[in-house]
Amino acid sequence: MKQFNHKVALITGAGSGIGQATALELARRGAELWLVDINAAGLEDTAQQIQAAGGRCHTQVCNVGSSTEMKKLAKRVHEAHPALDILINNAGIGVAGRFVDTSLKTWNKVLDVNVKGVMLGCHLFAPNMIEQGRGHIVNLASAAAFIAAKDMPVYSMSKSAVLGFSESLRADLHEYGIGVSAVCPGIINTPIVANAVFEGKLGQNEHVKSKAVDFYKKRNYTADKVALGILDAIEHNLAVRPISPEAWAMYWAKRWVPGVVDWLGRRDIPFLTD
Ligand SMILES: NC(=O)c1ccc[n+]([C@@H]2O[C@H](COP(=O)([O-])OP(=O)(O)OC[C@H]3O[C@@H](n4cnc5c(N)ncnc54)[C@H](O)[C@@H]3O)[C@@H](O)[C@H]2O)c1
Repeated sequence: MKQFNHKVALITGAGSGIGQATALELARRGAELWLVDINAAGLEDTAQQIQAAGGRCHTQVCNVGSSTEMKKLAKRVHEAHPALDILINNAGIGVAGRFVDTSLKTWNKVLDVNVKGVMLGCHLFAPNMIEQGRGHIVNLASAAAFIAAKDMPVYSMSKSAVLGFSESLRADLHEYGIGVSAVCPGIINTPIVANAVFEGKLGQNEHVKSKAVDFYKKRNYTADKVALGILDAIEHNLAVRPISPEAWAMYWAKRWVPGVVDWLGRRDIPFLTD
């Protein structure tokens, strides 16, 4: 899919960070947007920016982890269009903490949004794409699917699930003319860390979170660049698209020097220590 003009695209988590930047870029290139987020204020902000620039969009407040809410969303979208051209399952939440410190409540919350949200998006929108005989699905995984850091078991699990699922779905939907890409960003300057759940020792010390937030700010790899990477994945129908130098480094290291990745995973992450 090379052209975005007049294409219908839906983005979850469109009220902030990567989702917002991608929505703005797609709108600039002429797509009609369905913006979805659990945060109404963020959605409104994205919609206003799109409309102020002359773009076309619809908004829906929706929890991607709720099958009831997602079914309502799909019904509304399919009443307006026979099928989406582009689906971007981007909504996600961050989490840090050692395995034994991480509560089951947190596991459930993260897997509901990061994994079930992606699955529900595909489940509800892919059948109409199949009928239409074209379309592209992008699922937001992460470089955390390449490096298994000790402080991120639940986040790594969720993003590895998204990567594996996307690769399988890509093979599955190929014969229907539908592309699937897993996008794997590295350290991107968005509010994800500020909004993340920090468990155990990491959660008990506020300084750790503010240090992590500062690190992401200083790294300053912007969501706009990720948006361009996502559009590149769609245009060239890429299976896996690492974004940022550290994501590419981890992608290759996992293949060529897995022992280094194993060793790195056991180190303390500098921005997650006091
Ligand atoms: N920022 C990074 O460094 C980074 C790196 C790799 C992957 N990612 C992934 O990219 C995606 C976007 O992250 P971001 O950095 O833009 O974060 P962000 O916090 O800026 O944006 C995430 C958006 O998802 C929304 N959201 C959260 N839970 C939701 C739910 N249940 N239903 C609907 N919307 C919900 C939030 O309200 C928010 O608007 C996530 O999947 C994240 O895991 C981010």
